[in-house]
Amino acid sequence: MNYYMAPMEGLTTYIFRNAFHQYYGGIDKYFTPFLCNRHMSSREKNDILPEHNRGMCTIPQILTNKAEDFLSLCQDLSSYGYDTVNLNLGCPSGTVVAKGRGAGFLSCPDELDAFLDEIFSRCPLSISIKTRIGMEQESEWETLLSLYQKYPIAELIIHPRLQKEGYGGTPHLSAYKRAEEMLSCPLCYNGDIISPATQEKTLKTLPGIKTIMLGRGLLKNPLLPALLRQENTDPSTLKSFHDTILDGYLSIMSGDMNTLYKMKDLWTFFGQSFDGAEKYLKAIRKARTVTDYRLAVNAIFRTCRVILPAPSDPW
Ligand SMILES: Cc1cc2nc3c(=O)[nH]c(=O)nc-3n(C[C@H](O)[C@H](O)[C@H](O)COP(=O)(O)O)c2cc1C
Repeated sequence: MNYYMAPMEGLTTYIFRNAFHQYYGGIDKYFTPFLCNRHMSSREKNDILPEHNRGMCTIPQILTNKAEDFLSLCQDLSSYGYDTVNLNLGCPSGTVVAKGRGAGFLSCPDELDAFLDEIFSRCPLSISIKTRIGMEQESEWETLLSLYQKYPIAELIIHPRLQKEGYGGTPHLSAYKRAEEMLSCPLCYNGDIISPATQEKTLKTLPGIKTIMLGRGLLKNPLLPALLRQENTDPSTLKSFHDTILDGYLSIMSGDMNTLYKMKDLWTFFGQSFDGAEKYLKAIRKARTVTDYRLAVNAIFRTCRVILPAPSDPW
């Protein structure tokens, strides 16, 4: 099985990805959170710079519905040595959808077709796509699949939910199966894989899955890829992993508060891996200085047991 790290805006930054690669690895491709402007900001450039992505297979992701912006960004990415980019057709956020981007683009198949036609005919890079299965109804998926059939998609990553579902309900596994029947490009499954048991359950219905992209499950528990591979895991590494991320942000961000915002976002996922951590998680949320933050974090690592899913535990 191949495992990919999902792009997660504000969370899976190059600081996080490098720390992950250093301590755990076992990820075949790392996807960057989306780039959405024709010209990259310095923060976005830092995220994709080759020297910040050494030793990793990193795929930059683009969120746009304008072919010219996509192609211009690809030109810049090509000058940094990238040969593949990923198009975001899955973001469900209201502001993104209102602009007809991300999952919002799925509701305009004719415009999407014209966009794909232009980028696939003009882009010198390979293009992979990360998609949802529609906006409102599962029946939209058939139209999208016949559209995807027309283009040489390097890889199609499917999060089998509708835009209107956000991250709720359960993924529509039958939609992934339909893609297996209809498409010949490589496919990747993404959605709700958080433990060996959820992987096993998904593979029972979809035995053809060869690649899984991990998002929230990996943020909650960085040992997840190793658990899924049935490799040895050592929870005592989590503290050093955390400290590397903290030091990384402190070294690049101005002012402690900006670093604390980043770390607090991370703890909304990471915190779920510790038993009885609520009181310390509250202290983390309230911390205004790095010193207070470190005190709360040290208390968690000192006192709380890391919860790891057992092989049969849906977690
Ligand atoms: C906070 C957050 C930020 C995300 N940012 C992105 C993003 O930048 N690009 C993208 O394609 N998907 C993004 N996603 C979606 C994830 O990549 C993934 O598709 C989703 O979380 C489902 O996978 P999971 O169940 O393994 O978490 C984001 C999801 C969350 C919760």
